[in-house]
Amino acid sequence: MKCRVCRGPAIIDLARHNANFCAEHFVQLCRRQVEKAVKDFSMLWPEDRILVAVSGGKDSLALWDILVDLGYRADGLYIGLGIGEYSDESLGYAQRFADARGLNLRVISLRSELGYDIPTAAAATRRVPCSACGLTKRHLFDSAAMEGGYDVVATGHNLDDEAAVLFGNTLRWEIEYLARQLPVLPARPGFPKKVKPLVRLTEREMAAWCIVRNIDYIVEECPMAVGNRHLGYKNTLNAIEEQSPGSKASFYLNFIERMAPLLSDHTGASHDELGECSRCGSPTPNEVCSFCLLVEKSSQHEAVPVEFMTKSGRKRGR
Ligand code: AMP
Ligand code: FES
Ligand code: ZN
Ligand code: ZN
Repeated sequence: MKCRVCRGPAIIDLARHNANFCAEHFVQLCRRQVEKAVKDFSMLWPEDRILVAVSGGKDSLALWDILVDLGYRADGLYIGLGIGEYSDESLGYAQRFADARGLNLRVISLRSELGYDIPTAAAATRRVPCSACGLTKRHLFDSAAMEGGYDVVATGHNLDDEAAVLFGNTLRWEIEYLARQLPVLPARPGFPKKVKPLVRLTEREMAAWCIVRNIDYIVEECPMAVGNRHLGYKNTLNAIEEQSPGSKASFYLNFIERMAPLLSDHTGASHDELGECSRCGSPTPNEVCSFCLLVEKSSQHEAVPVEFMTKSGRKRGR
């Protein structure tokens, strides 16, 4: 197996590029894919202060590494979700990554700062854990960025993540979600700009990036997400990709280029009607925003251990 660029020994084969790459040229390819996404979608400007949301997993640590490597000013934000050992371990990976490189990591612990955790929030609000988790993360990304004076929040969503969400939204023809499924969301009053610079790179490529760059990351998936619909869509798309390399990228990237512009009138957004949450000041159509309602319910609920909310735990409990 030889590198397409230098003919030296290759470390990875990338069927969708119909080529193999050595470590040096693989790193170059990933950097160029990020630069292309950043440029094509006007994601970042050289002077931006970026807040990278890091989970301790491969994608977000790779993203932080790539952005710093490309010369951007990027701090990290880690949210301690209180999902048992999974959260304790993932914080360790994020913290060690930051310390080893002298980078700045802001840590928010849900339990100590807001009086709840995700298993308890899921039980208290009767939401599926990923929904309570998503609402919490979105709010805290926004508020931490606004308070810290950052220009933009960057998350580690990769091509597999975005293609799986697109697949789910297409199966149900969720037109409004489809119209909003863009790799850049511009800033609007009360909300920072949000970008996903890894949309041109796959999960496998990000795992390889971490190996090549010596980045330790948490390999386990969140125990509360095991068996969810999203993972099923990823498996389906991987089966299609195996048969026909490049399908995943063309499904997602052609959607963004050709289809999303046709849907731009269907975003359902009417930001002019948003007022301010009477408790936290965030933009909301209601008096109190859904995050503040979730905090109220969850912090009054007795703490629920993570085992009760995982799929296997729920089955055992029946
Ligand atoms: P997920 O929603 O778990 O697929 O994660 C998507 C992206 O959200 C990751 O790539 C990170 O950028 C960010 N993220 C996930 N979990 C956390 C966390 N606990 N703290 C900060 N950012 C996170
Ligand atoms: Fe959010 Fe698992 S990380 S529910
Ligand atoms: Zn090479
Ligand atoms: Zn609020």
